[in-house]
Formats: sequence, C-alpha cells, structure tokens
Amino acid sequence: MSLRNKYCGQVTATYLDKIVKVSGWVAKSRDHGGVIFIDLFDHTGVVQLVFNPDNPSFAIAEKLSTHSVVSIEGQVIPRPEGTVNPNLASGEIEISVKKLLWHNIAAPLGFDVNDPKVGEDVRAQHRVLDIRSDRMQKNLRFRATMIKSLRGYLEEQGFLEVETPILTRSTPEGARDYLVPSRQAPGHAFALPQSPQQFKQMLMMGGIDRYYQFARCFRDEDLRADRQPEFTQLDMEMSFMSAQEVCDMMEGMVKSMFQECMGQTFEAFPVMSYQDAMTYYGTDAPDLRNPLKFVPLDAQLADCDFEVFKVPALSSEGRVVALRLPGGASLLSRKDLDHYTKFVSKLGAKGLAYIKVNDLSLPDFGGLSSPILKFLDASHIQAILDESQVSDGDLLFFGAGDERIVNLSMSALAKDLAMKLSLLKEGFEFVWIKDFPMFEKTDDGLTAIHHPFTAPLEEDRDQLVTARAQAYDLVLNGSELGGGSIRIADPKLQQEVFDLLGIPEDQAQEEFGHLLAALSQGCPVHGGLAFGIDRMAMVLMNTTSIRDVIAFPKTQTASCALTKAPGQVSRSQWRELGLTVKQGDTDGGS
Ligand code: AMO
Ligand code: AMP
Repeated sequence: MSLRNKYCGQVTATYLDKIVKVSGWVAKSRDHGGVIFIDLFDHTGVVQLVFNPDNPSFAIAEKLSTHSVVSIEGQVIPRPEGTVNPNLASGEIEISVKKLLWHNIAAPLGFDVNDPKVGEDVRAQHRVLDIRSDRMQKNLRFRATMIKSLRGYLEEQGFLEVETPILTRSTPEGARDYLVPSRQAPGHAFALPQSPQQFKQMLMMGGIDRYYQFARCFRDEDLRADRQPEFTQLDMEMSFMSAQEVCDMMEGMVKSMFQECMGQTFEAFPVMSYQDAMTYYGTDAPDLRNPLKFVPLDAQLADCDFEVFKVPALSSEGRVVALRLPGGASLLSRKDLDHYTKFVSKLGAKGLAYIKVNDLSLPDFGGLSSPILKFLDASHIQAILDESQVSDGDLLFFGAGDERIVNLSMSALAKDLAMKLSLLKEGFEFVWIKDFPMFEKTDDGLTAIHHPFTAPLEEDRDQLVTARAQAYDLVLNGSELGGGSIRIADPKLQQEVFDLLGIPEDQAQEEFGHLLAALSQGCPVHGGLAFGIDRMAMVLMNTTSIRDVIAFPKTQTASCALTKAPGQVSRSQWRELGLTVKQGDTDGGS
C-alpha cells in the first residue's frame, strides 16, 4: 500500500474533489468544536487536514501531538469562505481525511524547531529535530543542489571521479593528524587524510588527466566558526595546464554554479597579489565588500619623533597603517573609541591612536582632535592627512607595531566597523589571490605557506627561500573558499624544498618516497585546487556558522553532541591495538 502520491506543498486547488494520499509531520492541531484541523508539513510545504467526528480514526487524531507523523488518504475540498489563506500554495483547499493509513505519535519536543532563539547546544543535542527546521531543510537542500551543479560542470569538462584512501599516511596541510592505531602493526598508525593531496598528484602521474572528488578531510586543529575537524573538499587536479588555465577552469565552474543555483552572473573575477592583499587589507582573504582599507604610512613616518610610530616604521618586521573611517568623527563616541582600543588590545595591539578630522580649513591643525598630535610635527601630520586623503568629519585610526599584530588587529577592526556601521557592499565579491610566497619564517624555521608540493614561479626558481609560489586562492566575501597550485614535477626540486623545510633525505624517503619515486617515473605538469564545500555553502547561504550547512557537525570541542563521539574504548580494545592508557587518564573502563 503506498502512503503518498502527493507532497504536502503540491496539493493545490487543481486537485479539488480528487482523492489524494499525503504523509508528513503535524505542525499544529486545533480542535474546533468536534472537528480537528491539522496543519501537516513536509519539506515542500503545508496542507490542512480535517478530521470529522464520524471518522473512525478521530480518537487517534485527537492524540496527534506536534511533530507526530501521519499518512492519510482524503478528498481535496474547498476551504469554507473566509478561511482561505492566500499565503499558502494549498491555502484555498483542505483535505477531508477518509482513512488514516499510518501514524507515529511524537513525544513532547521541548522546543519549537523554527524558533531562532533556541540555543545551538540544544539544537546540537536534538539534531534530528533541528534538521526538521525550515532553516536546516533549506541549507541541506541547497548544499546538495550546489554539489550537483559543480559535479555536472566537472563531468562535462572530462573530469573523472576517483576515490582515494581514508586510512593513509600523514600528508602535511598544516594541522595535526587524526591517527588510527593499527592492530596488525603495533606502534604504527594510519593518519586520516588532511587532504588527498599526494594521491591526486599520483593520479595525474598515473595518466588520469583530470580528477575530482568530494573528499572528506580531517584536521585536528582549533575550531572556528568556519572550521570543522571533519569537512568536505571539492578536490581537483589537472594535467598539462598552467596556473592561469587551472584558475580559468575553476572560475568557469564557480560562475556556472552561481548561475544555476543563485541566478547570478559575474564579470571576470579580480586578481590581487598576496603582497597587495597584506598591504591594503592585512589579510590574504580580503573582503572586497568592505570599503575600509589600510593606508600604509611607513615611508611617511620613518623619520618622525613619535617612537610608537617611528620604531615599527623603520623595522623590517613592523609597520604603521591608518584606517580612514569616512564620517567617523561623529559616528563614534568616546565610549566607542575606548571599546575599540580594548578590541585591538585583545588581539595584541599596544594601543589605538586616532585623529578626529573636524575641520581641515582651520589653521595649525586646529580642526583636528587627537591625543597623538602633540607627538608629531606639522610635516608629519600633513603627510598623514595627504596620504589618507581625509575629508572633514573623518576619523583616522592608527595601528603601529609588529607587522603580524597590526595586520591581525587592524583587519579585525576594519571588519567589525564595516559590519556594525553597515558599510559592506551588498552581494558577492570574489577575488583571486596570487603570488603567495613559497615559505614563511616561523620560530621553527621555514614552513610552506601552501604545502611542500607547491611549485615556485619559474622566474623565482633560483632563489627558492624568497620565491613566490605558483599558488592561488579564491576568496569570496572575505572567506577563503579554496586554494591550490601548480605542483613540483621534478624530484630534484622537490628534494630541495624538503631540504629547506628541514626534512632530511632519509625522512623524505620514509614519508614521501612513493611520491618522489612517481615524480621520476614520467610526471606530467600538473596542478589543481580544492574548495571547502562547507564554507562555500555557508557563504552562499549567508550563515555565520559552518554547522548550519553540515547535517551532523562537531561541536566546539570537536565532539558529536548527538552520538557523544569520541566514545570510551575498553581496555581490551586498547590492548588489541598494542596501547595502554596511563593511570589517571580516562581509560574507558574494563
Ligand atoms: P587547503 O588546506 O587550503 O588546501 O584547503 C582547501 C579548502 O578547504 C577548506 N578548509 C576547511 N573547511 C572547513 N574546515 C576546515 N578545518 C578546513 N580547512 C580547510 C577551505 C580551504 O580553502 N590540498 C590543498 C589543495 C590543493 O593544493 O589543491 C588543500 O587542502 O575552504
Ligand atoms: P602612549 O605613548 O603609549 O600613551 O600612546 C599614545 C597614543 O598612541 C595613545 O592614543 C595610544 O592608544 C596610541 N598607541 C600606543 N601604542 C600604539 C600602537 N602600537 N599602535 C597604535 N596606537 C598606539
């Protein structure tokens, strides 16, 4: 016996008098003097059911609590005059229930699944109910549509879908690995892939030509609103293509998806060098919707007497920037300025100097107000005003100090100001970031900015330490959607890069011997890119949490609120893996 021949949202006046079968969840139930009205919903919409007292299932209908499930057969009839609801597709009709085909009474839910005020922890613990909400239904269905569109494009372009192992060896993407201890080889462990990076390169060496995979990746790193320990990449690799050709292919795919899923078209995406992104936005993922940009002032302030500015302006590891907030002099109160001083200090800044530009026409800078004017002479004040192109009413903020801290704090300030003061341009702003450096210096020596398989720009090949990489990121509204590069296709160069990263030859052989061998067995020029699918869905659906676009996400503490994973493991299971848990640590019992 079938339980459904129409979805709730499909039953419109076209079906008047017809017998239909619908199934769904009870949104609301009302008892109107012996007649029970039920709003029944599924993912397509709502339809009203009517149970009359002579219906043999009336007694059950009386018990149908919110979110009980019913399947019914009934006749589509017009709603009585005055009860038509023009806001619903099914608003002109109702279904007079003839037979109750199936039911499942729901226990009290404890909260309204569509109430935006319900906290995230409650929703996480009751994820099944949360998935029933309009919000999650919309997000998960959109995510699937997006994936379908991306897949369609890649299939059309001759990409082959290939699966790569989950139980594998560590591949460096900058995070900690999730390890799976081996039972058969005590003391050895698989690592879950941080990305399928090496496998996709080896697929190119194996002649696959164009590969894609919706790949699950695992990274044990600190979580943020746009990061999960387990996430999905659309991972791709192409042979015999230049960086420009790879980017063109990817841009084509993203544009085609936007057209299909969002009905929006775009001109060519702008391109910005990593250097410019850091200079003017202080981040490699600039939000081009934000009109607030840094004004670099190192050159202007290197010979001033104000130590707070002079020292970083002169240092190769420091910088001084201004941020001009148009109209800011009257927009921000003393209290706001104190708030923002605390805001940047939490990010490591030592202060937040400012100048209020009240009236530029007054002599001797009499129309400026600022606690730092007394430290600067006229020529430096004039240089600041000229360089930042201020107008009356503007406010200038200054960040000075260690380059990393200035970039971090002032970019966060620019973002916060733009959000609070509604300065962000509407819509979607893409930008390609290119010409990343190959390496950055850290306390532990050089580390790869992308990963160690990234090729340098040809023209920088001879000075690898400072070389720029053939790498590119696609950024949308300040969020890094994806990144990739042309790869090293020469085993000698690969070893040179390992050397610079402090990976000696024997270790490189042990960890990457398979790749090095394949590099010398006929390796095509190859490159690719991976998009974060969760992030993409998140930005497109305009949600602030990545958990809103993942069916069963992990919490802030990298656990599953629903299944309570990670779970405890018995001593015998640890033993089987050749492991013991130290006394005092939670050992999971017997
Ligand atoms: P990368 O490390 O830049 O590149 O990752 C690619 C994209 O994956 C997404 N992403 C994440 N999404 C959610 N949670 C996380 N923890 C997380 N980490 C990364 C981001 C990011 O842009 N193998 C290379 C790609 C290549 O070179 O082809 C790689 O993994 O959107
Ligand atoms: P001080 O000399 O520390 O009293 O600082 C004078 C002014 O400069 C104050 O308005 C501080 O907020 C500001 N200031 C101090 N350090 C920094 C910094 N690193 N960056 C920006 N402004 C600063």
